[in-house]
Amino acid sequence: MAKQPGLPGATRSLGVRLRTANKRTIGSQKWLERQLNDPYVAAARAQGFRSRAAFKLMEMDDKYKLIRAGSRIVDLGAAPGGWCQVAVQRGAAQVVAMDLLPIDPIPEVTFLQGDFNDADMPARLRALMGGAADLVLSDMAPNTTGHGATDHIRIVALAELAFDFATHVLAPGGAFVTKVFQGGSEQQLLAPMKRVFATVRHVKPPASRKNSSELYVVATRFRGV
Ligand SMILES: C[S@@+](CC[C@H](N)C(=O)[O-])C[C@H]1O[C@@H](n2cnc3c(N)ncnc32)[C@H](O)[C@@H]1O
Repeated sequence: MAKQPGLPGATRSLGVRLRTANKRTIGSQKWLERQLNDPYVAAARAQGFRSRAAFKLMEMDDKYKLIRAGSRIVDLGAAPGGWCQVAVQRGAAQVVAMDLLPIDPIPEVTFLQGDFNDADMPARLRALMGGAADLVLSDMAPNTTGHGATDHIRIVALAELAFDFATHVLAPGGAFVTKVFQGGSEQQLLAPMKRVFATVRHVKPPASRKNSSELYVVATRFRGV
Protein backbone atom coordinates (compact mmCIF):
# COMPACT_ATOMS: atom_id res chain seq x y z
CA MET A 1 0.00 0.00 0.00
CA ALA A 2 1.33 3.46 -0.85
CA LYS A 3 1.73 6.09 1.83
CA GLN A 4 -1.54 8.04 2.07
CA PRO A 5 -1.72 11.74 2.82
CA GLY A 6 -4.14 12.98 5.47
CA LEU A 7 -7.22 14.95 4.53
CA PRO A 8 -6.15 18.59 4.74
CA GLY A 9 -9.17 20.81 5.21
CA ALA A 10 -11.55 17.85 5.26
CA THR A 11 -13.66 19.14 8.09
CA ARG A 12 -16.81 19.94 6.10
CA SER A 13 -19.88 17.83 6.67
CA LEU A 14 -20.96 15.63 3.76
CA GLY A 15 -24.51 16.93 4.28
CA VAL A 16 -26.26 13.63 4.93
CA ARG A 17 -29.53 13.97 6.91
CA LEU A 18 -31.42 10.97 8.23
CA ARG A 19 -35.13 11.04 7.35
CA THR A 20 -36.39 8.63 9.94
CA ALA A 21 -35.39 8.20 13.52
CA ASN A 22 -37.81 5.34 14.21
CA LYS A 23 -36.67 3.16 17.11
CA ARG A 24 -33.40 5.11 17.48
CA THR A 25 -32.48 7.03 20.62
CA ILE A 26 -31.52 10.69 20.09
CA GLY A 27 -27.94 9.74 21.01
CA SER A 28 -27.69 6.96 18.45
CA GLN A 29 -29.41 9.13 15.79
CA LYS A 30 -26.82 11.86 16.37
CA TRP A 31 -23.94 9.35 16.33
CA LEU A 32 -25.18 7.88 13.05
CA GLU A 33 -25.59 11.31 11.44
CA ARG A 34 -22.11 12.29 12.58
CA GLN A 35 -20.65 9.09 11.10
CA LEU A 36 -22.48 9.58 7.80
CA ASN A 37 -21.34 13.20 7.56
CA ASP A 38 -17.75 12.65 8.56
CA PRO A 39 -15.30 12.86 5.63
CA TYR A 40 -12.70 10.91 7.64
CA VAL A 41 -15.14 8.02 8.08
CA ALA A 42 -15.77 8.05 4.31
CA ALA A 43 -12.04 8.28 3.54
CA ALA A 44 -11.21 5.45 5.97
CA ARG A 45 -13.76 3.24 4.25
CA ALA A 46 -12.55 4.22 0.76
CA GLN A 47 -8.89 3.62 1.65
CA GLY A 48 -9.46 0.36 3.50
CA PHE A 49 -8.67 1.57 7.02
CA ARG A 50 -10.51 -0.03 9.91
CA SER A 51 -11.00 3.26 11.77
CA ARG A 52 -11.06 7.00 11.14
CA ALA A 53 -8.45 7.11 13.93
CA ALA A 54 -5.93 5.92 11.32
CA PHE A 55 -5.83 9.49 10.00
CA LYS A 56 -4.86 10.87 13.41
CA LEU A 57 -1.75 8.70 13.45
CA MET A 58 -0.94 9.51 9.81
CA GLU A 59 -1.19 13.24 10.54
CA MET A 60 1.04 12.98 13.62
CA ASP A 61 3.52 10.82 11.73
CA ASP A 62 3.60 13.24 8.78
CA LYS A 63 4.60 15.98 11.20
CA TYR A 64 6.89 14.23 13.67
CA LYS A 65 8.28 11.30 11.62
CA LEU A 66 7.50 8.73 14.29
CA ILE A 67 7.38 5.59 12.15
CA ARG A 68 10.67 4.74 10.47
CA ALA A 69 11.45 1.95 8.07
CA GLY A 70 12.42 -1.03 10.21
CA SER A 71 10.81 0.30 13.42
CA ARG A 72 9.61 -2.04 16.15
CA ILE A 73 6.24 -0.71 17.25
CA VAL A 74 3.91 -1.48 20.15
CA ASP A 75 0.26 -0.46 19.78
CA LEU A 76 -1.66 -0.37 23.09
CA GLY A 77 -5.45 -0.39 22.76
CA ALA A 78 -5.28 -1.34 19.10
CA ALA A 79 -8.81 -2.50 18.24
CA PRO A 80 -10.14 -2.43 15.58
CA GLY A 81 -6.64 -1.98 14.11
CA GLY A 82 -6.45 1.28 12.18
CA TRP A 83 -3.17 2.39 13.80
CA CYS A 84 -1.67 -1.07 13.20
CA GLN A 85 -2.52 -0.73 9.50
CA VAL A 86 -0.78 2.64 9.33
CA ALA A 87 2.31 1.31 11.14
CA VAL A 88 2.60 -1.60 8.69
CA GLN A 89 1.89 0.58 5.66
CA ARG A 90 4.61 3.04 6.69
CA GLY A 91 7.35 0.46 6.93
CA ALA A 92 7.44 -0.90 10.49
CA ALA A 93 9.48 -4.10 10.69
CA GLN A 94 7.47 -5.44 13.60
CA VAL A 95 4.16 -4.45 15.16
CA VAL A 96 2.88 -5.99 18.39
CA ALA A 97 -0.63 -4.88 19.31
CA MET A 98 -2.71 -5.38 22.45
CA ASP A 99 -6.32 -4.86 23.34
CA LEU A 100 -8.94 -6.08 25.76
CA LEU A 101 -11.06 -6.79 22.69
CA PRO A 102 -10.22 -9.18 19.84
CA ILE A 103 -9.31 -7.84 16.39
CA ASP A 104 -9.60 -9.41 12.95
CA PRO A 105 -6.08 -10.61 12.13
CA ILE A 106 -3.67 -8.37 10.22
CA PRO A 107 -0.97 -10.59 8.65
CA GLU A 108 2.03 -8.46 9.64
CA VAL A 109 0.82 -7.76 13.21
CA THR A 110 1.26 -9.93 16.31
CA PHE A 111 -1.79 -9.46 18.49
CA LEU A 112 -2.04 -10.12 22.22
CA GLN A 113 -5.53 -10.00 23.68
CA GLY A 114 -5.58 -8.79 27.25
CA ASP A 115 -4.95 -5.89 29.59
CA PHE A 116 -1.66 -4.17 28.71
CA ASN A 117 -1.28 -3.56 32.42
CA ASP A 118 -0.97 -7.25 33.36
CA ALA A 119 2.28 -7.74 35.25
CA ASP A 120 3.80 -10.11 32.68
CA MET A 121 3.02 -7.98 29.57
CA PRO A 122 6.35 -6.06 29.28
CA ALA A 123 8.30 -9.35 29.55
CA ARG A 124 6.01 -11.14 27.03
CA LEU A 125 6.43 -8.25 24.68
CA ARG A 126 10.22 -8.14 24.92
CA ALA A 127 10.38 -11.89 24.35
CA LEU A 128 8.16 -11.56 21.26
CA MET A 129 10.13 -8.64 19.86
CA GLY A 130 13.52 -9.99 20.76
CA GLY A 131 14.47 -6.59 22.15
CA ALA A 132 13.28 -3.10 22.92
CA ALA A 133 10.68 -1.07 20.96
CA ASP A 134 11.34 2.09 18.93
CA LEU A 135 7.81 3.47 19.29
CA VAL A 136 5.01 2.86 21.79
CA LEU A 137 1.57 4.07 20.72
CA SER A 138 -1.46 4.32 22.98
CA ASP A 139 -4.86 5.34 21.67
CA MET A 140 -6.47 3.68 24.70
CA ALA A 141 -9.62 5.10 26.17
CA PRO A 142 -11.42 3.77 29.23
CA ASN A 143 -15.19 3.26 29.14
CA THR A 144 -16.77 6.64 29.83
CA THR A 145 -19.15 7.24 32.72
CA GLY A 146 -20.66 10.45 31.32
CA HIS A 147 -19.26 12.32 34.35
CA GLY A 148 -16.60 14.59 32.87
CA ALA A 149 -14.31 14.85 35.90
CA THR A 150 -14.36 11.09 36.54
CA ASP A 151 -13.70 10.30 32.89
CA HIS A 152 -10.81 12.76 32.85
CA ILE A 153 -9.18 11.16 35.91
CA ARG A 154 -9.58 7.70 34.34
CA ILE A 155 -7.99 8.62 31.03
CA VAL A 156 -5.07 10.37 32.73
CA ALA A 157 -4.55 7.31 34.95
CA LEU A 158 -4.54 5.11 31.85
CA ALA A 159 -2.06 7.43 30.11
CA GLU A 160 0.21 7.33 33.20
CA LEU A 161 0.19 3.53 33.14
CA ALA A 162 0.92 3.57 29.40
CA PHE A 163 3.85 5.94 30.05
CA ASP A 164 5.21 3.63 32.74
CA PHE A 165 4.84 0.68 30.35
CA ALA A 166 6.66 2.61 27.61
CA THR A 167 9.63 3.33 29.90
CA HIS A 168 10.00 -0.44 30.44
CA VAL A 169 9.99 -1.42 26.78
CA LEU A 170 11.44 1.53 24.80
CA ALA A 171 14.96 1.65 23.40
CA PRO A 172 17.00 4.84 23.95
CA GLY A 173 16.03 7.34 21.24
CA GLY A 174 12.50 5.86 21.05
CA ALA A 175 9.19 7.71 21.02
CA PHE A 176 5.84 7.48 22.82
CA VAL A 177 2.39 8.76 21.80
CA THR A 178 -0.57 8.69 24.16
CA LYS A 179 -4.12 9.96 24.12
CA VAL A 180 -5.25 12.32 26.90
CA PHE A 181 -8.23 14.60 27.36
CA GLN A 182 -7.89 18.28 28.19
CA GLY A 183 -9.02 19.03 31.68
CA GLY A 184 -6.09 20.08 33.82
CA SER A 185 -4.70 16.95 35.40
CA GLU A 186 -3.02 15.82 32.17
CA GLN A 187 -0.36 18.38 33.19
CA GLN A 188 0.76 16.06 36.00
CA LEU A 189 1.73 13.53 33.35
CA LEU A 190 4.04 15.94 31.57
CA ALA A 191 6.64 16.55 34.30
CA PRO A 192 7.81 12.92 34.61
CA MET A 193 7.69 12.56 30.82
CA LYS A 194 9.93 15.60 30.38
CA ARG A 195 12.52 13.97 32.63
CA VAL A 196 12.97 10.99 30.32
CA PHE A 197 12.15 12.37 26.85
CA ALA A 198 14.03 15.21 25.15
CA THR A 199 10.81 16.65 23.64
CA VAL A 200 7.24 16.40 24.92
CA ARG A 201 4.39 18.18 23.15
CA HIS A 202 0.61 18.32 23.08
CA VAL A 203 -0.82 17.68 19.63
CA LYS A 204 -4.36 18.00 18.28
CA PRO A 205 -4.28 16.29 14.86
CA PRO A 206 -6.82 17.72 12.37
CA ALA A 207 -8.67 14.37 12.29
CA SER A 208 -9.41 14.66 16.03
CA ARG A 209 -12.90 16.15 16.27
CA LYS A 210 -12.85 19.86 17.11
CA ASN A 211 -15.60 19.52 19.69
CA SER A 212 -13.77 16.72 21.50
CA SER A 213 -11.35 17.47 24.33
CA GLU A 214 -9.15 14.65 23.03
CA LEU A 215 -5.47 15.49 22.64
CA TYR A 216 -2.32 13.47 22.16
CA VAL A 217 1.02 13.78 23.91
CA VAL A 218 3.91 13.09 21.54
CA ALA A 219 7.22 12.43 23.32
CA THR A 220 10.40 11.80 21.36
CA ARG A 221 14.07 10.92 21.95
CA PHE A 222 13.75 8.68 25.00
CA ARG A 223 16.79 9.06 27.23
CA GLY A 224 16.30 5.81 29.14
CA VAL A 225 15.60 5.50 32.84
C1 LIG B 1 -10.13 4.35 20.49
S1 LIG B 1 -9.91 2.61 20.51
C2 LIG B 1 -8.42 2.43 19.58
C3 LIG B 1 -8.58 2.66 18.10
C4 LIG B 1 -7.33 2.27 17.31
N1 LIG B 1 -6.24 3.19 17.53
C5 LIG B 1 -7.59 2.19 15.83
O1 LIG B 1 -7.04 3.00 15.08
O2 LIG B 1 -8.33 1.30 15.39
C6 LIG B 1 -9.36 2.38 22.19
C7 LIG B 1 -9.11 0.91 22.58
O3 LIG B 1 -8.45 0.87 23.84
C8 LIG B 1 -8.75 -0.41 24.42
N2 LIG B 1 -8.36 -0.43 25.84
C9 LIG B 1 -8.84 0.32 26.86
N3 LIG B 1 -8.26 -0.03 28.02
C10 LIG B 1 -7.36 -1.03 27.73
C11 LIG B 1 -6.44 -1.82 28.51
N4 LIG B 1 -6.34 -1.65 29.84
N5 LIG B 1 -5.68 -2.75 27.89
C12 LIG B 1 -5.80 -2.95 26.55
N6 LIG B 1 -6.65 -2.23 25.75
C13 LIG B 1 -7.42 -1.29 26.34
C14 LIG B 1 -10.25 -0.53 24.19
O4 LIG B 1 -10.66 -1.88 24.29
C15 LIG B 1 -10.40 0.07 22.78
O5 LIG B 1 -10.46 -0.95 21.80
